[in-house]
Amino acid sequence: MASICWALLLFLAMFSALATSDTHSDDNLTLRCHPDQAASLLLLKRSFSFFRYPSGLESWQDDTDCCLWEGVGCRNSSGYVTALELSNRGLYSQGLDPAIFNLTSLQLLDLSMNNFGQCNLPATGFERLSLLTHLNLSNSGFQGQIPIGIGKLANLISLDLSVLYYMASDDSLNGYGTSIPGVTSWLWLQEPNFQILVGNLNNLRELYLDGVDMSTSADDWCDAFADSLPNLRVLSLRYCNLVGPICPSLSTLHSLAVISLQDNFDTSVTSSGDAHGFSQFKFSSACLEKYPTLVP
Ligand SMILES: *[C@@H]1O[C@H](CO)[C@@H](O)[C@H](O)[C@H]1NC(C)=O
Ligand SMILES: *[C@@H]1O[C@H](CO)[C@@H](O)[C@H](O)[C@H]1NC(C)=O
Ligand SMILES: *[C@@H]1O[C@H](CO)[C@@H](O)[C@H](O)[C@H]1NC(C)=O
Ligand SMILES: *[C@@H]1O[C@H](CO)[C@@H](O)[C@H](O)[C@H]1NC(C)=O
Repeated sequence: MASICWALLLFLAMFSALATSDTHSDDNLTLRCHPDQAASLLLLKRSFSFFRYPSGLESWQDDTDCCLWEGVGCRNSSGYVTALELSNRGLYSQGLDPAIFNLTSLQLLDLSMNNFGQCNLPATGFERLSLLTHLNLSNSGFQGQIPIGIGKLANLISLDLSVLYYMASDDSLNGYGTSIPGVTSWLWLQEPNFQILVGNLNNLRELYLDGVDMSTSADDWCDAFADSLPNLRVLSLRYCNLVGPICPSLSTLHSLAVISLQDNFDTSVTSSGDAHGFSQFKFSSACLEKYPTLVP
């Protein structure tokens, strides 16, 4: 009898221990975020001040699951951050904190429409985000040379570094019929130049570099497309200080559906009627069909 009681007590003790550890592991299961990832995100948050109120990223709190924080996505159960979507959150920072480069599982990074204080993009670090497929740093007040690390992101499908923004609200105030583009800051491609930047980006389908100064690329920029970007679908290079002529190899890019090259080229180039020049290209009927946005 006594031994049965002891056995029962033992069983109950074990059961409650099991039950307790069950609750614990349940708790820990809901904490999906990998601690390294949370630490990097919190460092990043600390680098921001917020120029818009109420201030953003309230949900980014220590000891909570970072996979549930606003703008953060973890695509799989490993707790690694795969998406950071912080477009237009009123973020202000003197440059981009290198903590972001510890988020090496990122596939999507969108920091567009914030204010990084007219600072340079970090010269090193982007190459660590080798899984990135979508990168959008447009209109965020970055300045200076575009770092070579971005050119090493061979999985990129979409790259937007444009710094053109349209003063649409001013338009309506001033009664202009069309929107007026303004360059918010100057990014440029010199070292590396355009050719080197896109040399490894063979999967790219969308490229927006509007307002990026490419004047030192001379006419090399054009052949670089056919050589390196066979899958390109959308190309937008407005206000890039491009010099002509447009090369015939651009027409070998069969996937190209949208091309915007307005607001480039010396007008004398445009009107010269050079065999591979802008006007020829523009008026070729094959191209009219293929590149509808080339038509003014
Ligand atoms: C759950 O997590 C807490 C804190 O992270 C830790 O102290 C505890 O040992 C964990 N429990 C289990 C069962 O893993
Ligand atoms: C990146 O993570 C490593 C550990 O994985 C850490 O030692 C380092 O301080 C982190 N760097 C930044 C900038 O967060
Ligand atoms: C989750 O993603 C990481 C990095 O992207 C990868 O290494 C890991 O294998 C993935 N895990 C699962 C279960 O898919
Ligand atoms: C990048 O972000 C801007 C602003 O949020 C958006 O308008 C643009 O479409 C995005 N670019 C791409 C390629 O998705």
